[in-house]
Amino acid sequence: MVKHETEKKSSQTEWWKKSVVYQIYPKSFNDTNGDGIGDLPGIIEKLDYLKTLGIDVIWLSPVYDSPQEDNGYDIRDYKKIDDLFGDMNDLERLLEEAHNRDMKLVMDLVVNHTSDEHKWFVESSKSKDNPYRDYYIWKDGKENGEPPTNWNSIFSGSTWEYDERTEQYYLHLFATKQPDLNWENPKLREDIYEMMKFWLDKGMDGFRMDVINFISKDPSYPDGEHGDGSPHFMNGPRIHEFLQEMNEEVLSKYDIMTVGEMPGASPEEAKAYTDPAHDELNMIFTFEHMDLDSENGDKWDVKPLDLVDLKENFEKWQTSLHGVGWNSLYWNNHDQPRIVSRFGNDGEFREKSAKMLATCLHMMQGTPYIYQGEELGMTNVHFDSLDEYRDIELKNMYEEKRALGWSHERIMEAIYIKGRDNARTPMQWDRSENAGFTEGDPWIKVNPGYTHINAEQALGQEDSIFYYYQQLIQLRKEKEVITEGSFELLLREHPQLFAYQRVGDKEDLVVCCNFSDQTVEVPDQDLIQSVKGGEVVITNVDSPERDRLSPYESVVYSIEK
Ligand code: NOJ
Repeated sequence: MVKHETEKKSSQTEWWKKSVVYQIYPKSFNDTNGDGIGDLPGIIEKLDYLKTLGIDVIWLSPVYDSPQEDNGYDIRDYKKIDDLFGDMNDLERLLEEAHNRDMKLVMDLVVNHTSDEHKWFVESSKSKDNPYRDYYIWKDGKENGEPPTNWNSIFSGSTWEYDERTEQYYLHLFATKQPDLNWENPKLREDIYEMMKFWLDKGMDGFRMDVINFISKDPSYPDGEHGDGSPHFMNGPRIHEFLQEMNEEVLSKYDIMTVGEMPGASPEEAKAYTDPAHDELNMIFTFEHMDLDSENGDKWDVKPLDLVDLKENFEKWQTSLHGVGWNSLYWNNHDQPRIVSRFGNDGEFREKSAKMLATCLHMMQGTPYIYQGEELGMTNVHFDSLDEYRDIELKNMYEEKRALGWSHERIMEAIYIKGRDNARTPMQWDRSENAGFTEGDPWIKVNPGYTHINAEQALGQEDSIFYYYQQLIQLRKEKEVITEGSFELLLREHPQLFAYQRVGDKEDLVVCCNFSDQTVEVPDQDLIQSVKGGEVVITNVDSPERDRLSPYESVVYSIEK
């Protein structure tokens, strides 16, 4: 037994530590059949583009059969491809074509909840003694007739929906049409593991696991303070047991990568989830750096970023996980606004600040994730009317905030800054109509910026953001210090400069990034002296000066030992 375990571990190479992942949101990537919705053949068509960028792994957001209440994060059938995207043959062809180009393919695993149209839920809601009843979380209301707890759903309203048929409530942490699965039920867990094997046996290279730290709930279901149930469903009492079981039953049998989406996980928790000795996951997505521009834990209550907070946050994650677990590195995904509009400058300094942000992230330890269009410096979008938006979270929030007295203008402003649809407008391929995304009517409007921000333009410009990302990816392959070195924060209190040192065996890297639109003097003579002997590895300016950084400048120096 022990021998077998050792053999298993040594045959797995931890290839994901050297990899760069590219996330595809299929609905918005590339449409080939003119229905206005991206599809699997559309992804296959663009594989060479991804190969040119140099990425190693594709993470595909859900393409499973779904009523699309939450763009596929509400799954009706785990083993069927939604007609919108194609069919199983298309997916198998995508996998093969990706593998032919030495790229891996990672699926999205959404197992905290399903769609209410999943056959398990259809059965479960029929009667209290249905064999599938315990696949979901059903409870009686409180004696006073209120829902079982006061928890607020992440998509607004109560987390409980009353079902007349059996006179009980079911739990849904997200939309009403996304009932939570009951992981306490061993039969449910077995079915999930079987489904995971179905995909891995096809040759998939791993899973991104949707809100996976929500699967274990506090069995006493207490009320939350001010309706905040999160302490009772995040990182719950049996989470490590469930993940270890999943690892033993499924993950350990394949040479794959796993990344768990984990809102509310601290570095200490991340260590427990990703320390290889615990046999759980390879890495997690933290949300801490994405929450720094929110007031009172409300993402719509926006405040300006304090760069010192961001630096300290990265320092905490970089140093806590070093030598123990593993970080994932991201600025963007389908739930976040575009980073160049958020922490950069999407006007005069768009290209320069996009490169600076990329540098700052990609020189850290961990596995970097690039979200479609980030490599082009795609920006947030401002639609005039709420009707032009599609996202359920945003629509529900609008109603909720209006009821709380927020003005229309205030809510729209928050949507412009934080709305998820900022990330979901179609990928900008060229300057033809609809950015070359579709010949039909796109399911969500194209960002008008496509006439000057698009892939064709970027591929034709030698110093584009695209080629800058290509260089960063290449550097990760060449320099061991990027994957292995330790992290030391420099200029800790500086409000505009984010500087850090990666310390390796043979070389150190000093990374300097200016997060402001002003020229900034480097206030530390020792730092200036140390980089004088260094060689410039990558920069977004023609000739960096050691003692100052121009607006949004970034420069990385290598210092040999
Ligand atoms: C996190 C996903 O990234 C998001 O898009 C989705 O709405 C929720 N989980 C619910 O599945």
